[in-house]
Amino acid sequence: MSSPRSRADGCVFVIFGASGDLTRSKLLPAIFNLCESGHLPDEFAILGVARPRIDQDAYRKQMREQVRQAEGEPLQADKWQRIEDRLYYVSGEFNDAALFDRLKTTLAEIRDRHHIPSNYLFYLAVPPDLFGTVGDGLATAGLTSEDEGWRRVIVEKPFGYDLESARKLNAELRRGLRESQIYRIDHYLGKETVQNILAFRFANGIFEPIWNRRYVDHVQMTVAEEVGVGKRGPYYDKAGALRDIVQNHMFQVLTLVAMEPPISFGGEDVRDEKVRVLHAVPPLTQDDVKRHVVRAQYDGYTKEPSVNTESRTETFVAMRLFIDNWRWAGIPFYLRTGKCLPRRVTEVVIQFKRAPLMLFRHTPVNSLSPNTLILRIQPNEGIALCFNAKVPGPFERLETVTMDFSYAEHFKTEPTTGYETLLFDAMIGDQTLFHRMDMVEAGWQAVTPILEHWQADSRSRLATYKAGSWGPSEADLLIERDGREWRE
Ligand code: BG6
Repeated sequence: MSSPRSRADGCVFVIFGASGDLTRSKLLPAIFNLCESGHLPDEFAILGVARPRIDQDAYRKQMREQVRQAEGEPLQADKWQRIEDRLYYVSGEFNDAALFDRLKTTLAEIRDRHHIPSNYLFYLAVPPDLFGTVGDGLATAGLTSEDEGWRRVIVEKPFGYDLESARKLNAELRRGLRESQIYRIDHYLGKETVQNILAFRFANGIFEPIWNRRYVDHVQMTVAEEVGVGKRGPYYDKAGALRDIVQNHMFQVLTLVAMEPPISFGGEDVRDEKVRVLHAVPPLTQDDVKRHVVRAQYDGYTKEPSVNTESRTETFVAMRLFIDNWRWAGIPFYLRTGKCLPRRVTEVVIQFKRAPLMLFRHTPVNSLSPNTLILRIQPNEGIALCFNAKVPGPFERLETVTMDFSYAEHFKTEPTTGYETLLFDAMIGDQTLFHRMDMVEAGWQAVTPILEHWQADSRSRLATYKAGSWGPSEADLLIERDGREWRE
């Protein structure tokens, strides 16, 4: 994000898992959008690698149809043709060394045909237990050595299942790759509104002075989804909301909201400050987990396809945490996320302290609403500032009004998949928006006490909530106990 470059390096983009959902719903549409906006050079090609034994023409046809569906509108023929002419496919088993030899030859041919420099961006859109296998296959075939050009590997989440498995996964990847070659993706960081948190905080002079414990009462973060687990039961039932959303997406947003100003917008400087936030989260005790973390399941979850009928996997989490540093000591951060909630919304609410003095005595005004700043990550991307204003008329009456900035209205842009920026950044070697390993570890460390407590507790009643509600009453209690309430 620090780069002023407008075109990616010439390279071959190699997708492992090229027949899967991610490729058709996010990766190829993102490549298509990058191509449309002129961010891809001519020296560019895509090579899909997957198990199905189909030929290249069939693959191209399938992708054309599926990307059209993902885009929801007919593809501009000339733009798509440009992608299709550069789209190749190789089938094989990822544990077969011969596949990687074939890949090597095919890559050389593709580069030759399109005059592409020797740069490869590998995307592992495969389950994590295959990361090591693919990494080893690439290394053995000599496809990770950077003697002639760069070699980068993007890995999809989840990065591990807990701290130990994340470390193991990392060790597997590191057998053939250096940290600077590994791009651990979190599509939340590709969202404009998430990146804008840094711009909002550090490109404006008026917010930073009040962005601290003296003026902020508390912070709320919500990641609500209307949908249930759908067909993702096999993955989700093992993961649950804490691993699926809190440990990665929410912690990323949290760190951007809470971090200190970095000394530059260089990748390492930004990530250094972000990881410090997670290191400052004090480990939760068993008692904290019992009192300040709520897990719940929506009614009917255990009847979802491929979900264990006895499952205790949480589809909702609400929690309170603190950041023990000079800026935030004593200020609660309330996080909540869930599936099957009333609507899809991701937002951060910074609630400021009330005005110190109630000057409106002997008037109909009997309480002052606190000011809130709402960072609307999605949908309806924007930022709102709520403050009190006098209602016109002879009486002293106040009403909370809103100053609103909307991306769609101002910039006239449509939200993108979030993958465009991330793929582009990987192609120019900017790791700012990718997870560094210490960050992954710090995230897992922060949730480990919760995971351990839940694992040990297989008997207590699991809270449930009605699909379409804002979660269980326990989540309301969590914040109401502190004299606050969720903003809805
Ligand atoms: C994914 C999770 O990482 O993010 C999904 O695995 C979730 O469970 C999705 O639905 C939400 O992403 P977005 O961009 O729709 O908020």
